[in-house]
Amino acid sequence: MKFAPMRIVNAIGMSFALAFSASALAADKPIVIKFSHVVAANTPKGQGAQKFKEVAEKLLPGKVQVQVFPNSQLFGDGKELEALLLGDVQMIAPSLSKFDRYTKQVQLFDLPFLFNDMDAVDRFQQSEKGKELLDSMKDRGLKGLAYWHNGMKQLSTNKAKLQRPEDAKGLKFRIQASDVLEAQFRAFGANPQKLAFSEVYQALQTGVVDGQENTWSNIYSQKFHEVQKTIAETNHGVIDYMVVTNAQWWDGLPEDVRAGLEKAMAEATTFANDKAADLNEQDKQRIVDAKKAQVVQLSDEDVAAWRTTMEPVWKKFEGDIGADLIQAAQEANK
Ligand code: LMR
Repeated sequence: MKFAPMRIVNAIGMSFALAFSASALAADKPIVIKFSHVVAANTPKGQGAQKFKEVAEKLLPGKVQVQVFPNSQLFGDGKELEALLLGDVQMIAPSLSKFDRYTKQVQLFDLPFLFNDMDAVDRFQQSEKGKELLDSMKDRGLKGLAYWHNGMKQLSTNKAKLQRPEDAKGLKFRIQASDVLEAQFRAFGANPQKLAFSEVYQALQTGVVDGQENTWSNIYSQKFHEVQKTIAETNHGVIDYMVVTNAQWWDGLPEDVRAGLEKAMAEATTFANDKAADLNEQDKQRIVDAKKAQVVQLSDEDVAAWRTTMEPVWKKFEGDIGADLIQAAQEANK
């Protein structure tokens, strides 16, 4: 009984000391940033993530450690957004087609033949309306940090002929999880099937699907050209990315760390976006040289036929996306 007060003091003192040393330890430890993505390391996105790691760790020595996980190693398509919101990863860069559960506006980028080329995509992303979209999912806990380019999509199948929309009628195509893309394939009488990126090669190889749409760099790095007969150079749409982070985690970072990460992101974005076009060109040439799938050039009339067939998709989604946003994107073509 006599020693009770002393014991209390000791207990409080000890827990104080413990708490203090734990926080001192935490302050010494770098903040770990897991950056997960689904493509190969030698693609535009893979190289952007690697660049971000290098610059962030150089600008914030000892303060951050960036761990990059390519090829759906950590989380695949179906899980990465959820993992980000749960705090299991801190950065991801899904293609713009994969946000439709979180916002209808970003579906804009999936409208077929919306942008004439990647310069137009870039002009729109850097415009006021484009930048606003980076913040359009804040109420869902997602903060957009940057747009990263991949490139224009091409269409491939396991058939010898792929020139006009009627050649793809009745075929099964793998699509990303996007309702706009689903409508796009239905517009020419095909059967779209939503599948995670990591499952595409096998689905093509085993004939679960007949074809798919993707950029040259994704087709080459995943070897899709080895299990497809024809790739038509349609340039009918775009695959680009939004680098997103968990808004709450981001807002809770020490100010100097956040500023350093912003700088690293800006540098990685310039690097990745400057490289994307060259990487796609290079991979297109590699596909041609590999002589597995035949690369088909389309005439202006062929392209016009695809464009006309896919046109009704715009009207169908205009209400969800917003006519003003569609118009702003079209202005970037001028
Ligand atoms: C796809 O699923 O086809 C692409 O979005 C993969 C990617 O991230 O480029």
